[in-house]
Amino acid sequence: MVYACRVSIRATLRDAHLRLDRAGVDAPHTTARVLLSQVTGKRKEWLIAHDEQTLETADELRFEALLLRVLAREPLAYVLGEREFYGLPLTVDRRVLIPRPETEMLVELTLEILRERPTGAADAFDLIDVGTGSGAIPIAVAMHLPRARILASDVSLDALDVARANADRHVPGRVQFQQSNLLDRIDGLPVVLTANLPYVTRAEIFGLPPEIQAHEPIVALDGGEDGLDLVRGLLEQIGSRLQPAAAIEAAFFEIGASQGPAALNAAHAILPGRRAAVLKDLGRRDRVLALHF
Ligand SMILES: C[S@@+](CC[C@H](N)C(=O)[O-])C[C@H]1O[C@@H](n2cnc3c(N)ncnc32)[C@H](O)[C@@H]1O
Repeated sequence: MVYACRVSIRATLRDAHLRLDRAGVDAPHTTARVLLSQVTGKRKEWLIAHDEQTLETADELRFEALLLRVLAREPLAYVLGEREFYGLPLTVDRRVLIPRPETEMLVELTLEILRERPTGAADAFDLIDVGTGSGAIPIAVAMHLPRARILASDVSLDALDVARANADRHVPGRVQFQQSNLLDRIDGLPVVLTANLPYVTRAEIFGLPPEIQAHEPIVALDGGEDGLDLVRGLLEQIGSRLQPAAAIEAAFFEIGASQGPAALNAAHAILPGRRAAVLKDLGRRDRVLALHF
């Protein structure tokens, strides 16, 4: 006779914690609990309060399958299939960069400008987000500005599929999508332009943790030799479209913490006479190149 050997929640978590720790995974304790919570559908408080209970065999197997993915250093957000951004759960997978909390700054800056003016005018988009990935920025803005006209673009058709699904989930019919290399296939300029384009330098890519280097799309990371190739390209496109009638009021580019001076130089060189500044994030690191027109 075969006896099923069912394991308690406590023993499962302890074992997972040890294995995650040994593999060098960040926050092994929390990670183990988040995975078990996903598998059982129970909140982490419940798991702690009932940790003497045994797991269903099916849950044990599903937990082990997810754990193996995290042990192979796949990012937790891909394993869970979701990451929260600006309070919204967004579907994410290997086709898109996992949205980072620091990018919420681009949403805040955009809302500050668009809240002060009537949105939805017919002549220009209120927001164009270039390199939209999962759609995090335009979807968050659309949630807060029900009348804003928003366009999101990406060079990657795979990313656009994910972004469209996220928009259908949270703001159906509110965001238009366009596949484009920067602004190549987009006419004119919006009131606000946001861009969190790849800005990792070639040299930095090799030093990234395995979760990022081996799993997040290279097209979402590689910013060229100094990380600013795409930022400069987009600044040039903006410059070539500026005319007195252009609707644009501001453009916000996310940049790396060490790129403030170089990004500012690029803005001054490509758009002389325009107001440019580098803004810091909550950790007091350079994070956004802001241009006001
Ligand atoms: C760093 S990810 C940011 C994704 C998203 N904006 C976010 O904040 O989570 C950069 C995105 O830019 C896109 N991208 C890379 N090169 C591009 C280009 N030449 N034109 C448009 N998008 C590009 C990538 O496909 C990727 O989705």
